[in-house]
Amino acid sequence: MEWGMKNRLSKLIQSDGKALFLPIDHGYFQGPTTKLERPGETIKPLVEYADAIMLTRGVLRNCVDPKINKPIILRVSGGASVVGEDLANETIITSINEIIRLNASAVSMSIFIGSNYEHQTLKNLAKLVDICEDYGVPVMAVTAVGRELEKRTARYLGLCCRIAAELGARVVKTYYCEEDFAKVVNGCPVPVVIAGGPKVTSQFEVFNFVYDGLQQGAIGVNLGRNIWQTQNPVAAIRAIRAIIHENYTAKEANELFNKIVAEKE
Ligand code: 5RP
Repeated sequence: MEWGMKNRLSKLIQSDGKALFLPIDHGYFQGPTTKLERPGETIKPLVEYADAIMLTRGVLRNCVDPKINKPIILRVSGGASVVGEDLANETIITSINEIIRLNASAVSMSIFIGSNYEHQTLKNLAKLVDICEDYGVPVMAVTAVGRELEKRTARYLGLCCRIAAELGARVVKTYYCEEDFAKVVNGCPVPVVIAGGPKVTSQFEVFNFVYDGLQQGAIGVNLGRNIWQTQNPVAAIRAIRAIIHENYTAKEANELFNKIVAEKE
């Protein structure tokens, strides 16, 4: 592996082999998502606890202080919206010049396997890998399910993660599933991070799936709504960080969460 690629990956994946990515890219197809109306304000208290932030160039340029001391994962696929015909109809939306100009440590792009746009999004990924590898920029593939959340089974996610890795992704982001998540990770030859999905009702549920996902081989999370859409985002991210980087159990993380909330965020 080239020095530049190694260097960028080492900024994302910490020396313990783990990672906590904080995504705020949801507006690229959802518009002003709840609690991301002013993304710069949303992340201000959270950024110190994240290993990297994931976002589009528009939010990066307009809402984030360039003096930020965190690596950037630039979302570079898009072209569809929640009110359009098909969320899967994505293309590459950012040039390599822009990726370098914005000093991105990695880029991310969605693939929609099993959708009408499977071929197109897989071609996008392969093309992006070809472009970014020349510059030592790692590509994180996002195994997207669009509105079909029921697709989140080990069989489907395992298929998606493996294909993403075969096409050259350096990291794969996927969903956690309760049954056989280890099979998803074991079938994927590159590191896997877990997305949170829509906000769940209890914070303990999040701590449980993050903890279990890590036990089953994930290296960390790329988790947004279940942090910044919650009532206590700082407590949430700190507790998740403790699971990832300090080997807390879900129960210990929940105790930490309650303690931080009690002390007032
Ligand atoms: C949105 C994304 C998000 O980055 C990803 O889904 C993680 O966020 P969340 O935890 O809110 O699901 O790729 O397109």
